[in-house]
Amino acid sequence: MSIHYDPTNLSASLVGAAHGLTADEIRKANPLAAAALAGFRKSFDEGRYGFPALPSDTTLINAAAAFAKSAAGDYDTVCVAGIGGSALGAWALDCGLRGPHPVQGAHSPKNPRLIILDNVDPVFIANALQSMNPKRTLVVPIAKSGSTAETMATLLIVHAWLKNALGAKKALKRVVAVTSEDRGDLKKFAVDYRLPTFHLPDNVGGRFSVLSAVGLVPAALIGVNIKKLCQGAAAMTTQSWSGDLNENIALRSALHHYLIWTKRKKSIQVMFPYANHLWGVAFWFRQLWAESLGKAKNRQGKRVNVGQTPVAALGATDQHSQVQLYIEGPNDKVFTFLAVGKWAETGKIDKAKTGYDSFDYLTGHSLAKLIDAERVATAAALSANSRPNCTFTIDRVDESHLGALIQMFEFQTAFMGELLDIDAFDQEGVELGKRFTFGLMGRAGYEKYLEEFQAYEAKRAKVKI
Ligand code: PA5
Repeated sequence: MSIHYDPTNLSASLVGAAHGLTADEIRKANPLAAAALAGFRKSFDEGRYGFPALPSDTTLINAAAAFAKSAAGDYDTVCVAGIGGSALGAWALDCGLRGPHPVQGAHSPKNPRLIILDNVDPVFIANALQSMNPKRTLVVPIAKSGSTAETMATLLIVHAWLKNALGAKKALKRVVAVTSEDRGDLKKFAVDYRLPTFHLPDNVGGRFSVLSAVGLVPAALIGVNIKKLCQGAAAMTTQSWSGDLNENIALRSALHHYLIWTKRKKSIQVMFPYANHLWGVAFWFRQLWAESLGKAKNRQGKRVNVGQTPVAALGATDQHSQVQLYIEGPNDKVFTFLAVGKWAETGKIDKAKTGYDSFDYLTGHSLAKLIDAERVATAAALSANSRPNCTFTIDRVDESHLGALIQMFEFQTAFMGELLDIDAFDQEGVELGKRFTFGLMGRAGYEKYLEEFQAYEAKRAKVKI
């Protein structure tokens, strides 16, 4: 397993002192990285955060693999009802290992299909249901809280769809739940209806849960080798506890991003995979970075309103959509390219000459060569325009590299939280909107949020603009 981190284009010598980092500056900041590592290690040892331990949870890995084996042949579709951290990890794995998905879609083209019902768009849900056979579908509701409105509503619809087609008893044979062990109504539902159930540890937050039952159960069901996935992640965990910055790329890259973000004021990070297979990782990363690092207060309770906006772009496609802005627009971004070392297909272009200039320089080459050339050309063009950028290259897109990449970004995010002195593991900011929704939908106990919402509506009615 090898992931290579190349920060060269973050250097002031390439992008200028106003936008890039000097070796001396980084060296002087190294103690910050050491403190971030020590701080996060202490929290982990105290049991506050559990994601680093997930890849070595062989009990869970074996149980998920065994469950998938026992269910094999009984389904052609795995239908996840989940959202946010309870959906994006499985989607990133499916996209990486069985995609590619050109855009975030409901399912991969391979059998068994993975359909992820994350949004409560009624047309999307109706279309997805129409595409599934209830006799051949395994439904996996996933919610850590066991109460997320979107997931509960989707589960009600999918459960009714199963019951109508199969009857109440058989319907329940087609559901396996993933939720917390001792809280939430999904857990109660699972107990009451005797559903096979997998749990995720309390100290693993939704967006850090891809290597818990949240990601592993759907992944195992669609045929991903979750042992290899976790082996890659476990190797990255070992690397990420190292104090040696050359080995610990999660920590080294976190330090670089911290300096670029806070000292060079790059308030946007563009995650730029040059491979459709890694598009899902870019979307998964977007949630990880945004929800973990966008915070109102630091750990001392001081208002800081910190955050770096993550953007997902796909190379080479978005060269024809975004790069004009990236090169000539405000210099407020840092770019993270994701590159692939060895392509599973090279896309050989026929050697025969055509007599047309626009074709003939391409003949005899391969699409792999072209997409890589486009990536390094874009990195060079950004650098020439003083836009800092860095590159992670994964040897190949397989289970072990994807596991390692995911774990590396989780560590990087945790270290960034330490560097910024914020709690990267809460998400208070999304709570108010959720409470308003509960109030609007008539949930008991949320009447005061309905009143607050109504007061806001009354205020809006008076506004003239
Ligand atoms: O990272 C998080 O904690 C959130 O994005 C959650 O994953 C998301 O809100 C879904 O929560 P739940 O799994 O409780 O349905």
